Amino acid sequence: MQFISLVALATIITLSSAETLEEKAKRAGLVPIPASKNEILKLVDDFRNPITDAKIELGQKLYFDPRLSKSGLLSCNTCHNLAIGGADGLSTAIGHKWKDNPHHLNSPTVYNSVFNAVQSWDGRNPDLEDQVQGPIQAGAVMAAPKELIVQRITSIPTYVNEFKNAYGDNVRIDFKKIADTIALYERTLVTPSRFDTFMLGNENALSQAEKEGLDTFISKGCTTCHYDIGIGGTMQPFEVVN
Ligand code: HEC
Ligand code: HEC
Repeated sequence: MQFISLVALATIITLSSAETLEEKAKRAGLVPIPASKNEILKLVDDFRNPITDAKIELGQKLYFDPRLSKSGLLSCNTCHNLAIGGADGLSTAIGHKWKDNPHHLNSPTVYNSVFNAVQSWDGRNPDLEDQVQGPIQAGAVMAAPKELIVQRITSIPTYVNEFKNAYGDNVRIDFKKIADTIALYERTLVTPSRFDTFMLGNENALSQAEKEGLDTFISKGCTTCHYDIGIGGTMQPFEVVN
């Protein structure tokens, strides 16, 4: 009896020491972003507004267009600057009339935000489509009423043509359509990294020090909260969502 359990124990020890770091990471719930563009697109697509090149291009223009703010000075990219990690590097975001965010909130990155279970620091937005309507209208961000935005966009012939091109000639360019198109563009802002390559089976994608870091990340319990795709795609804000 004792002999059998000793053998069983030895087997367990052998098995666990044979586990690779990749397996350990997977067991801890970490999931890689796929490598191919097509697989990523499948993952981030939404049947309510399927991704096409024309919509991505239009969404990108809107994302960079300061005419979406009341002052004509702030675009999404002002605070979520895609050239510097999808954020602004400031401890408190600066919005309409160059005022600090009244709640001292900073701008989270928009990269890989499609993988978040919910959006914004308090998790109040269920998805990107819902989220994007906030900053355009919020007094402390872009301060633009819906009607103003629709009126501005529909008065620009190039935009009208591009909406027709993306959604068909009968497209109704309302606030939701504008917001949904920006959100669609944001869905494509995905940045697979060497970590993902490692998780897809390329053992040499991470340096020795990085592997040790990953191992510590797992064994110290960071993966209790930071698990799934994008190391924390399902990360829930404290005390808001369980
Ligand atoms: C003045 C700076 C500013 C501008 C302009 C701005 N944002 Fe933000 N953004 C923020 C801040 C601050 C937050 C956090 C707000 C909160 O949690 O209440 C945020 C949150 C977000 C989030 C949530 C990300 C996450 O990880 O939870 C997304 C997505 C986002 N913004 C997209 C946009 C888009 C799209 C636009 C343009 C329509 C835009 N933002 C305009 C500052 C800005
Ligand atoms: C109890 C859950 C929990 C644990 C455990 C945890 N975190 Fe976090 N972590 C969070 C939450 C919640 C945030 C805020 C994220 C948000 O709301 O966007 C955060 C934010 C972060 C951020 C900032 C991410 C960003 O995009 O700005 C880093 C980096 C981070 N955690 C690293 C770690 C490390 C390293 C460990 C392990 C030593 C760890 N966390 C353990 C829940 C946790």
